[in-house]
Amino acid sequence: MQYAETGKEERFKPGEIVRLLKVLTLFDLKSKRVLIRVDFNVPIQNGKVADDFRVRAALPTIKHCLNEGASVVLISHLGRPEGQINPAMSLMPVGETLAELLEMPIKFSDNCVSSNAKDVSLGLKPGEVHLLENLRFHDDETKNDKRFSYQLSKHGGIYINDAFGAAHRAHASNVGVVKNFSQKGMGFLIEKELKFLNSVIRNPKRPLTLILGGAKIGGKLELIHQFIQNADSIIIGGGMAFTFLKAKGHDVGVSLVDDTMIDTAKSILKEARIKKIDMIFPSDFIGVEKPEKPGSIKIMKLDHIPSMKMGVDVGPASAQQFSEIIQSSGTIIWNGPMGIFEVPEYSIGTREIAQAMVKATNEGVITVVGGGDTASAVKQFGVHNDMSHVSTGGGASLELLSGNQLPALFALEQ
Ligand code: 3PG
Repeated sequence: MQYAETGKEERFKPGEIVRLLKVLTLFDLKSKRVLIRVDFNVPIQNGKVADDFRVRAALPTIKHCLNEGASVVLISHLGRPEGQINPAMSLMPVGETLAELLEMPIKFSDNCVSSNAKDVSLGLKPGEVHLLENLRFHDDETKNDKRFSYQLSKHGGIYINDAFGAAHRAHASNVGVVKNFSQKGMGFLIEKELKFLNSVIRNPKRPLTLILGGAKIGGKLELIHQFIQNADSIIIGGGMAFTFLKAKGHDVGVSLVDDTMIDTAKSILKEARIKKIDMIFPSDFIGVEKPEKPGSIKIMKLDHIPSMKMGVDVGPASAQQFSEIIQSSGTIIWNGPMGIFEVPEYSIGTREIAQAMVKATNEGVITVVGGGDTASAVKQFGVHNDMSHVSTGGGASLELLSGNQLPALFALEQ
């Protein structure tokens, strides 16, 4: 049997975590029923999909299966309904979006493991799509329950996981279910995510720059440790910069500081010094007295942050400096916004980084944007198609880039 590294293109290096994942193009799909785990966990507003990024990202796999003469059963979670039926978290609106994007009607079942739903799957003709209701309406999904996994498996003869965004979870639909299939593999989205995220850590075009932002250091410690071993520079912006700057002895006014992380920040700074990694912090900020009042904006230099002010974005000199580093890098990984980008007045620093990334991409720099908030930011600025890769997984990309095994991929290898 052929596996990823022996596929048509040389996608992965021998020895990589993904070496035993079978790629979709290696399956004979004609007249088969393919159960595909997708990540349709998308924002819903007023009963409609507010951002279809993840639905579009699943299309290549779905279309390939249909074009090859298969029928398709799709399973996903949406939100965290905790085992309760919650109409606000129904996948029905996602089904409507999917039908529009595929330009064909699809079937929908309101209980993913009912005998009716199973009958609909068994009756599918080649070229038909059946979407099942939110897996997490059953708490057996997050418990990775064996029986529930078995019931799910009855929907298909081949199992394909393409839910990269959920691959850091060990649930029934992406871990338990796998044991019930002899024919199993990954879809095009997981393949693409792994190609970019693995190559930036294993074989980056240098210099390799990590740009970190967002509010908290806590969730990103492993990532920082991983990149202190590997990156050439680490730029730190966003709220988390203030904890580092306080640890370095700066007065940061009333900016967001995680006091429980000051010692950790000090030891990271020391580790970076020992490894001779450049850690670059903002030299100026957009400051306000009350973040809910953007009218009071002022540019503040790092050494002159007034005691009553808080930083809500990086300032123009920092954005300029970061942009220059981006232009002179070979590979950039960006995880976390530079400020409170959801507020237009505080979004300029994040926008400038996004624009510098676009320019760098056009000049041949490999630019990879982590999922979650950073993906939302580039989407908000309309430049998500102008990067080398925007991950569909916030938590999953963070885990993978931190050097951790993703349970769903591990299960697929067995
Ligand atoms: C995500 O949005 O990160 C994934 O869909 C996983 O969702 P979860 O954090 O609720 O498990």
